[in-house]
Amino acid sequence: MSTAISPTAYNYKVVRQFAIMTVVWGILGMGLGVFIASQLVWPQLNLDLPWTSFGRLRPLHTNLVIFAFGGCALFGTSYYVVQRTCQTRLISDSMAAFTFWGWQAVIVGALITLPMGYTTTKEYAELEWPLAILLAIVWVTYGLVFFGTIVKRKTKHIYVGNWFYGAFIVVTAMLHIVNHISLPVSLFKSYSAYAGATDAMIQWWYGHNAVGFFLTTGFLGMMYYFVPKQAERPIYSYRLSIVHFWALITLYIWAGPHHLHYTALPDWAQSLGMVMSIILLAPSWGGMINGMMTLSGAWHKLRTDPILRFLVVSLAFYGMSTFEGPMMAIKTVNSLSHYTDWTIGHVHAGALGWVAMISIGAVYHMIPRLYGREQMHSVGLINAHFWLATIGTVLYIASMWVNGITQGLMWRAINDDGTLTYSFVEALQASHPGYIVRALGGAFFASGMLLMAYNVFRTVRAANPVQAEEAAKIVVVGAH
Ligand code: HEM
Ligand code: HEM
Repeated sequence: MSTAISPTAYNYKVVRQFAIMTVVWGILGMGLGVFIASQLVWPQLNLDLPWTSFGRLRPLHTNLVIFAFGGCALFGTSYYVVQRTCQTRLISDSMAAFTFWGWQAVIVGALITLPMGYTTTKEYAELEWPLAILLAIVWVTYGLVFFGTIVKRKTKHIYVGNWFYGAFIVVTAMLHIVNHISLPVSLFKSYSAYAGATDAMIQWWYGHNAVGFFLTTGFLGMMYYFVPKQAERPIYSYRLSIVHFWALITLYIWAGPHHLHYTALPDWAQSLGMVMSIILLAPSWGGMINGMMTLSGAWHKLRTDPILRFLVVSLAFYGMSTFEGPMMAIKTVNSLSHYTDWTIGHVHAGALGWVAMISIGAVYHMIPRLYGREQMHSVGLINAHFWLATIGTVLYIASMWVNGITQGLMWRAINDDGTLTYSFVEALQASHPGYIVRALGGAFFASGMLLMAYNVFRTVRAANPVQAEEAAKIVVVGAH
């Protein structure tokens, strides 16, 4: 096999920008998570101001962690992976730069409008129509850059990680555009084009697939590149990855109604959502096993490599949350879990354990390579970060399980004469210790991000521009 350095270079500038902003938005979004978690412990922290109240800051938290932190991680890694696996530069530097600045503009728009109370009220789709349109334009440009780069690839086949990123880009565009169809009545107010149960169905078709395609399929693309790379092993089964891909994208799209059990949605739709969610366990675990088994023969590396540990533990949490999800989709289980902190625990098992951990691992993998360094400034700090993140996630989800089941059981307890055994406030009082533990777990996780910021800063500062330029050169492996 021959190796040659081609005259052209990868566009690492945009990847670096997104990688750095992943850390910045991660700190802000998670810091805000700790703040709203503390508001649930000490309500005085609402400060009696409308724009600092829990109701306004909660959607800001979800927008910052999902779209700002998770979004930047997805943009950055997908641009990195598509270039390296296609052995070619992004098709357009200016379009790529537009996606970076456009995406940051959407997030800054969210930072301003959400605390002011401008919202569509649709969860994870809160941004009012001017920002939603900007987001759609940025997203379509992203699709053009990504697929355009695939078209001009120098390799014969399309690596499976790109299939996952590609599906995530296409489906997110479809979900965002369909769910946002609305009638504007002023600059910051619009009404949904759908009404009643149809509106709810469209919203949770969007909401669930935001989880399925934004928080899962995109991150699986990340998994298929960074786990084999960091473990220095080929993916366990390429065939399984293809079955995994088709099964996952075929099934996810049907599972949305499990968010609407026992509502005005027709019963058959609820049951369909339940059945599809249970079947979804199979492809989810297929992917998890494929990632885990990639470590066959490389398990010993976990002892010394904290980046690999981030990636593997993220897969363990992915497996856990995709077992829990199908269970919660069963109507009888959902009658206990719905509206309780159990859902919040499930969300963060996926969000902290899976999404954040895999992103953190991927960013640690990329940063030295993007700046032409051998490794991160301090491996010890990555290790400390790993433990803060793992302990923080466990504290968060364990406390929410206890709270969720306590709340569910207290709300449904009935006396012999048919009256409720407990008032709502009693269930809230019983939840208080859990809220303290959750805030502590969140603080652990967020402080790990501060260590990461310092480590990234030191690595980037030590970088030499000539080496960084050298690192971006395209090395073509094999004769083409
Ligand atoms: C330090 C880390 C974090 C803390 C302390 C935290 C805290 C919180 C709190 C207190 C809530 C509101 C819960 C409620 O309404 O009862 C929440 C909601 C939420 N958070 Fe986080 N969070 C963190 C990180 C993340 C990350 C990294 C993500 C995503 C990648 C995320 C996604 C969400 C989502 C989707 C919800 C809404 C859940 C629902 O409506 O069921 N969070 N978070
Ligand atoms: C096979 C996979 C999964 C299934 C079947 C599933 C199922 C469920 C169910 C039944 C609920 C509760 C709905 C309710 O009672 O309101 C839920 C909520 C949620 N799940 Fe999952 N889940 C899965 C994986 C994941 C993963 C991996 C993540 C995160 C990365 C995640 C994020 C969420 C979020 C954010 C919510 C809260 C939505 C809301 O009410 O705001 N899920 N999921």
